[in-house]
Amino acid sequence: MYLASLLLTSLLVVQAYAQCTPLPSPLPAFDDLSVMTTLPDPFTFYNGTPLASTDDWACRQQEIKTLVQEYFYGYYPDTSNETVTATVAQGWQGQTLAITITSGAKTVSFNATLTLPAGASASAPVPALITLGGFGPTADGAAAIAFDAAPIAYDGSQKTGAFWELYEGDIGVLTAWAWGFHKIIDALEVAVPEVDVARVGVAGCSRYGKAALAAGFFDERIALTIPLSSGFMGMAPFRFQYEANGANEQISDLDDTSGSWGNDVLLTFKADVMRLPIESTFLTAGVAPRALIWDEGTTDYWTNPEGTAAVTFPATLALYDWLGAGDQVGVSLRNSGHCDPSGNANVAPFINRVFYGTETTRNYHDISPFTAHTETFPWSAPSE
Ligand SMILES: *[C@@H]1O[C@H](CO)[C@@H](O)[C@H](O)[C@H]1NC(C)=O
Ligand SMILES: *[C@@H]1O[C@H](CO)[C@@H](O)[C@H](O)[C@H]1NC(C)=O
Repeated sequence: MYLASLLLTSLLVVQAYAQCTPLPSPLPAFDDLSVMTTLPDPFTFYNGTPLASTDDWACRQQEIKTLVQEYFYGYYPDTSNETVTATVAQGWQGQTLAITITSGAKTVSFNATLTLPAGASASAPVPALITLGGFGPTADGAAAIAFDAAPIAYDGSQKTGAFWELYEGDIGVLTAWAWGFHKIIDALEVAVPEVDVARVGVAGCSRYGKAALAAGFFDERIALTIPLSSGFMGMAPFRFQYEANGANEQISDLDDTSGSWGNDVLLTFKADVMRLPIESTFLTAGVAPRALIWDEGTTDYWTNPEGTAAVTFPATLALYDWLGAGDQVGVSLRNSGHCDPSGNANVAPFINRVFYGTETTRNYHDISPFTAHTETFPWSAPSE
């Protein structure tokens, strides 16, 4: 019965996308692209046709997801041959979630730590926050799952770790780390009935914030995406820098390590980022309308706080509002630097609202001390 309905659902999805106009194949490379000095318009199809209504969003979002994979993340691997098993082992420091992934003749394993709140049970399952890299918010009454990057994928161009044992190709490390988040959700589904998989959040800071965003972008199971101090390749626009008070990271800064977080195609745009067909707002468009809250320090100049707050946020909000989900997106600014613990506290009320419906008076649409750079998004949502 369950399998039958699962098959039916995937058939319906395939049918829905079959009605979408296909993108050109191959997509144009750097030399064949022209300069675009604004954020790309999420409300117009690749072929120039404006979206008529929100019924068009599924096809447009699919296009956006393909463009982002082509020009930045690399294509997410076909994981249909994977079998994921997991066990929960009690250790002296808490519980270990031991995860094994088999695909064809290959088997890989990695571990995460699992902390369940008192009272969690299969009959009263709790939400969960999965954090990569050791820094992120906690939520009262929720399970906390933590994992490290290196067992999934080495942080750099050396392709070692569980992901690279199974997959190859021009794929960025952020996509590999995103896969790690997804395998943990698979493991929760099979081995941790105390967790309600419909209420899972993903978090990380800095490069791991970029990875949390990638995780939310690729996996519809993720209810809440929480990138902290994520900066360039995260919430900061690729095109627009605001450097009056300090340098912002930009494409020309990518080196052997940060240059491996995306694919090699992205690096061809070092010659002129204005030709890049995607933007930070296409990353958030991949998550929409699921819940998304990000944190940024106003003195953390390298992460381009003004760009994330005054460009990415209002342009993302325009999309969420059109989808009827404006309250599902927010930004939280603080007057401090990189990966500051106060950022964790600031996003907690938003997390509680998503997980438990607890209302908050905090205004997550407040971008002060900045004002929206509306010149960067001269388009607007279709009126219905
Ligand atoms: C899945 O496994 C089959 C049998 O080994 C193989 O032919 C196929 O290419 C694999 N598919 C993917 C997506 O790896
Ligand atoms: C994972 O944890 C289990 C149980 O504590 C341990 O036996 C195993 O060696 C660990 N595996 C890895 C890949 O670290």
